[in-house]
Amino acid sequence: MTMPRAGREGRAGEQLPHPLVSSAAAPLKGTCDVPGDKSISHRALMLGALAVGETRIRGLLESADVAATAVALRALGVAVEPEEDGSWRVHGVGVGGLAEPDGPLDLGNSGTAVRLFAGICASHAFTTFMTGDRSLRSRPMGRVIEPLERMGARFEARSGGRLPLAVIGACDPMPIDYRLPVPSAQVKSAVLLAGLNAPGKTRVVETVPTRDHTERMLRRFGAQVDIEVEGEGGSAVTVVGYPELGPCALTVPGDPSAAAFPLAAALIVPGSDLTIRNVGVNPGRIGLIETLREMGASIETGPVSEQGGEPVADIAVRAGSLRGVEVPAARAPGMIDEYPILSVIAACADGTTRLNGLAELRVKESDRLEATAAGLRAAGADVSEREDGLDIVGHGGPPPGGGPVATHMDHRIAMAFLVLGMASGKPMTIDDGSMIGTSYPGFVADMNRLGASIAAG
Ligand code: S3P
Repeated sequence: MTMPRAGREGRAGEQLPHPLVSSAAAPLKGTCDVPGDKSISHRALMLGALAVGETRIRGLLESADVAATAVALRALGVAVEPEEDGSWRVHGVGVGGLAEPDGPLDLGNSGTAVRLFAGICASHAFTTFMTGDRSLRSRPMGRVIEPLERMGARFEARSGGRLPLAVIGACDPMPIDYRLPVPSAQVKSAVLLAGLNAPGKTRVVETVPTRDHTERMLRRFGAQVDIEVEGEGGSAVTVVGYPELGPCALTVPGDPSAAAFPLAAALIVPGSDLTIRNVGVNPGRIGLIETLREMGASIETGPVSEQGGEPVADIAVRAGSLRGVEVPAARAPGMIDEYPILSVIAACADGTTRLNGLAELRVKESDRLEATAAGLRAAGADVSEREDGLDIVGHGGPPPGGGPVATHMDHRIAMAFLVLGMASGKPMTIDDGSMIGTSYPGFVADMNRLGASIAAG
């Protein structure tokens, strides 16, 4: 991964030792914090770049994925710098003000970065080349190419719409009215961001709600965003083109998808009682908490405050026995990144957990259904894989453990099975922990401070 030159971003490139082994942990007690939200961090940098003037961001996730976005913005002519006080400064160039990059944008492992940049670049009249690591180069981009071509951009991609990708931005971008064929916040955001530099109204209809960080942040920067109810439980989001976005001071909440790991550890390591501070509790992100409560977990959410236009709360969790549940397909977008760790928890519960409607997991950083099922089997758990789901027979306590688990360049698979090792009888080994830094740099140190025993294997 190409790392940015300046300052603390160096931490994002932290190369954790491959492989890693996680052994029995002490109970997790007290309080902890988790890094800034990955989705919100990408968007804060990107919208800061499209505002006129200087945006200040506190709590930005300093991970490899977000660093890739910062480097790409510099290549597009935007100054993005870390400050001494831990915040970040973005000198926005205004909607339509980006410059043609003189080389390919390398977006590393980040699907969010490549898809959102595809949207932004689609309505700039220049050509952008994009690529990424082996995992990202295998992921489908047709889902953003299709609507963005309707807006007037042209694309060249490898077979299956895969990276490397050339985005030939539209000279006269057109607004569209688009119904999402897959529930994807990345696709919704790509179209809305392209619509910023198009005349008139760009509208995206989603039948199942997905995370709304782009809409919230666009409003925060001064764009006109209208949201109407559409059908049963769906919504239509409209953005008005050519807004003058004003710079902001933003604080990024803790990432609920990162918090899922200490939360899960505290549920399955007996005697744990942990409070995770300042976690984003956006309604589009709390499917895991809802599911775990149905499983009988003791999880309490403290008073909700607002940070950067997003709801934030402390989350208190206590270890206890859990029962298997059926998780409906409709809940998938609200916990799409949490299925590997939920599967680990389900393997420790009593009874069967049935996870439904998960075809999308096959095209994440890895095929997460296959990687999760294989990892659970390596730990001695009983799991069966369906085309779009998993059935996990709980062991009534942690499964025996073991490994090695093949992580397939997937940070969430790596972290999920390290958490399992904190509770299983035998240690859990993973083949490669180096990708953890894409979303949670400092994960191993944070977990070890809380009572884990994770070391080079
Ligand atoms: C993200 C949306 C989700 C999620 C990803 C981040 C975002 O992807 O899996 O980690 O920031 O918009 P999809 O929108 O493709 O489901």
